[in-house]
Amino acid sequence: MFRRLVQAIVGTKNQRELKKLQPIVARINELEPKMRALSDDDFPKLTAQWKQEVANGRPLDEILPEAYAACREAARRVLGQRHFDVQLMGGIVLHQGKIAEMRTGEGKTLTATLPAYLNALEGRGVHVVTVNDYLARRDAEWMGRVYRYLGATVGVIVHGLTDAQRQEAYRADITYGQNNEFGFDYLRDNMKFRLSQYVQRELNFAIVDEVDSILIDEARTPLIISGPSEQSTDLYYTVDKIIPRLVADTDYVVDEKARSVMLTDEGVEKVEHLLGVDNLYDPTNVELLHHVEQALRAHTLYRRDKDYVVKDGQVIIVDEFTGRSCRVGGGRTACTRRSRRKRASRSRRRIRRSPRSPSRTTSACTASSPA
Ligand SMILES: Nc1ncnc2c1ncn2[C@@H]1O[C@H](COP(=O)(O)OP(=O)(O)OP(=O)(O)O)[C@@H](O)[C@H]1O
Ligand SMILES: [Mg+2]
Repeated sequence: MFRRLVQAIVGTKNQRELKKLQPIVARINELEPKMRALSDDDFPKLTAQWKQEVANGRPLDEILPEAYAACREAARRVLGQRHFDVQLMGGIVLHQGKIAEMRTGEGKTLTATLPAYLNALEGRGVHVVTVNDYLARRDAEWMGRVYRYLGATVGVIVHGLTDAQRQEAYRADITYGQNNEFGFDYLRDNMKFRLSQYVQRELNFAIVDEVDSILIDEARTPLIISGPSEQSTDLYYTVDKIIPRLVADTDYVVDEKARSVMLTDEGVEKVEHLLGVDNLYDPTNVELLHHVEQALRAHTLYRRDKDYVVKDGQVIIVDEFTGRSCRVGGGRTACTRRSRRKRASRSRRRIRRSPRSPSRTTSACTASSPA
């Protein structure tokens, strides 16, 4: 009751946030006649001038009203679509690094042009992340007309590009692309030996379309990349043999709910004895410890025909969330989703998508989507 009374007087948090944006929207509207009076040639000049000013230290927030007004006018001229005031608001919120919730058909594609253009003025790249290749291509072409009119360059990252094509697309002011492509490019870059081979630049600013799908639903299945192993697989067999000699609840404790398993002190001693090492936790034994932990998980948590199936001599992991299956084995990877299959055979490195296994690469991938 009290809360409703307060809300009636001062408004909800959302209303207060929107109210704060009103003066900026008013300022953009004020600049409209000035932008309408400009000739076609003036827009690229404005972009170049603002880029220079930003390079000299002028904050983006100061340029925002003018840049948004210019982008709105460009869209009106080339697409016949003038950003609505609510789209300006969405654009401001996105520039602030927040989430703008807009209903289907409200025009999120056009909204994104505002913060994408503004942040591109830094000259350090902007990523616009979409859920699939079709949208990446469509939006890059569709909105690309606006950016090009403004004198900014656009690239698109989709499946099947060479590294040289990717480098060029990432060097554009604004780069559209599908989320896994951005993620895998980041991971692949991290496996390269020379900076000159990197396709991505330093990460700067990203706008994520369908953020609930990309950062929540899709993020549950991490992207995992792995290089061909240079070491022999003997260690797997050695470790695999000792696990059945450990006793549940004495040597290790299983937490089914958390999908984790921990060695007890007794278990550690027993493993050390069985493997003939002094200290399993010594940094020199880190690989051995990793094998023991993974073997323990494989023996205690992963059940055949539930978590994975074996078909034609290959292990197929079942994704517990999506029910999709991923084949991993025989040194080749073939995920059932077609795009993955193509990608795996294209790449010399093995790429695997596996269910929710915590890994360093997962967090690295998340870091590649700074939205
Ligand atoms: N300011 C505008 N003036 C005229 N038409 C617009 C404007 N903004 C968007 N539209 C049109 O509205 C339609 C929907 O836009 P868009 O596809 O960007 O929506 P969306 O919010 O991304 O929807 P979805 O959630 O379905 O992806 C498009 O045809 C687009 O051209
Ligand atoms: Mg959309």
